[in-house]
Amino acid sequence: MSAQKPARRRTAPEIQARKGGTPIVSLTAYNAAFAPLVDPLVDFILVGDSLGMVEHGMDSTLGVGLELMIAHGRAVVRSTAMSLIVVDMPFGSYEASPEAAFRSAARLMAETGCGAVKLEGGAHMAETIGFLAARGIPVMAHVGLTPQAVNALGGFRSQGHDAAAREKILGDAVAVSEAGAFAVVVEGVVAPLAEEITRTVSIPTIGIGASSACDGQILVINDMLGLTDRVPRFVKRYGAIGEAVSKAVSDYAGEVRERAFPADEHVYKPRG
Ligand code: KIV
Repeated sequence: MSAQKPARRRTAPEIQARKGGTPIVSLTAYNAAFAPLVDPLVDFILVGDSLGMVEHGMDSTLGVGLELMIAHGRAVVRSTAMSLIVVDMPFGSYEASPEAAFRSAARLMAETGCGAVKLEGGAHMAETIGFLAARGIPVMAHVGLTPQAVNALGGFRSQGHDAAAREKILGDAVAVSEAGAFAVVVEGVVAPLAEEITRTVSIPTIGIGASSACDGQILVINDMLGLTDRVPRFVKRYGAIGEAVSKAVSDYAGEVRERAFPADEHVYKPRG
């Protein structure tokens, strides 16, 4: 009998308890090819609605619906065992009322098996966050550059450049924390603001394009692996998977065209 403890998924309360402790590592992942590679190395995986842009070629996340998030969420939950899986609530699935948000979040939790949901917005979403949290749904909040508000923000621009904007975003972070979110993504804000938010709120801040002083970091996996052409300026590329795929496909295409592969490759061999 093995003495090893079976792997158990991390939970939202465990992530929340990491405030001010060892930095929380997270990445997005969207499918059963990449999620199991990421799973043993991070604390949580976000099935982000960024999948609309990086996996489905959309210009923004606005066209992503609940069914698409459920399909990707299921694939990620099925193919992982250790990380907390957080699934994004897509645009239009939660803003109208706390009750509408509960119906959408309940579907995401029940139909994917994820351990938490994420939604965008600050003070104006506080009531909804409290409503979901009180009904057993762990909620990760998301303030600063909120991509679902791209039209209202006038583009994918960093936020918090004047005192009024900084005060508003700090107030948003405090509101979602007090409402019961277990963590908050702080995206695309100036570093001193991300640092002030991290000092002020009692839940972990997860930075993206914000500050290394946040309690954790997240990146879009396609960006950091070099799978996307246009990446935000703050993103460091840790891999060149795009180039590796192009080279493999080019080698394969060359061999097929020239009938250059050895005769025993690409053919079924009789057994025995
Ligand atoms: O959708 C997403 O991938 C996100 C992250 C960028 C935080 O919200």
